[in-house]
Amino acid sequence: MPRRKINNWRPVKGQPLTELDKKILYIQNKGHLVPRRELIKTPEQIEGIRRSGVVNTGVLDLIEKEIHEGMSTAEIDKLVYDYTISHGAIPAPLNYEGFPKSVCTSINEVVCHGIPSEKEILRDGDIINVDVSTILDGYYSDASRMFMIGNVSPEKRRLVEVTKECLEIGMEAAKPFGFVGDIGHAIQKHAEKNGYSVVRDLCGHGVGLEFHEEPEVTHFGRKGTGMLLVPGMVFTIEPMINMGRYDVYIDADDGWTVLTDDGLPSAQWEHTFVMTESGLETLTY
Ligand code: MF3
Ligand code: CO
Repeated sequence: MPRRKINNWRPVKGQPLTELDKKILYIQNKGHLVPRRELIKTPEQIEGIRRSGVVNTGVLDLIEKEIHEGMSTAEIDKLVYDYTISHGAIPAPLNYEGFPKSVCTSINEVVCHGIPSEKEILRDGDIINVDVSTILDGYYSDASRMFMIGNVSPEKRRLVEVTKECLEIGMEAAKPFGFVGDIGHAIQKHAEKNGYSVVRDLCGHGVGLEFHEEPEVTHFGRKGTGMLLVPGMVFTIEPMINMGRYDVYIDADDGWTVLTDDGLPSAQWEHTFVMTESGLETLTY
């Protein structure tokens, strides 16, 4: 069934159409989903998100330096909280829809949204995703990295590496006036070629003025589908790649932790990007 037309792009009232208006309206008329004008950030807003990203990267660099076997994920949470606050910023996850901590820590078969705990200790051979999101002067940034603790099996190591490649390949696939589906298509192809699966139930997202904005950035899909990518859009790509099947479930006890159904490991890498005239630029390096 054809999708009902959504007229997201509105020319500014009383102003003549710009070349950009004409280009986007033409694509919209062909039946594509295009962004609302509010999703195109101003240069000032992009600079604000970039400054937020500098603090966010500082947090991840600190974790990279400090993370070690025997440490609890609550200790990671404290490092994140203290660094962020001392840099005049706020950890975005804290109290977000009731999330109780400042960072998500997701070990082995935990896909994402793991809650730091004193009882959870990093063990030799673990792989862990640390997902850091920062609010500075009202601007949001979001990025995550994988860390390998001690001697990690070649199988898990390869999962971590291929997942990083998935993020890089997704980034390369995103072109101005291309589509969100181009990103998912490229990621899915690379993951499945390596015998892995792409998590369906969680996706990347617009970010910047709020934690989660449009569009939804799925990490699977078809080229030429999904929302049009216009310079000035800011969003994350954050593939969650499973060693086994893509099915996941949420821990009923805490309502947050997402786990693989088959108990096999999962990995994730994430950056916040801005679309430019020539492709994506990373705001969380
Ligand atoms: N950083 C996660 C994301 O990419 C958000 C998790 S924060 C939580 O959207 F509070 F929702 F857990
Ligand atoms: Co995110």
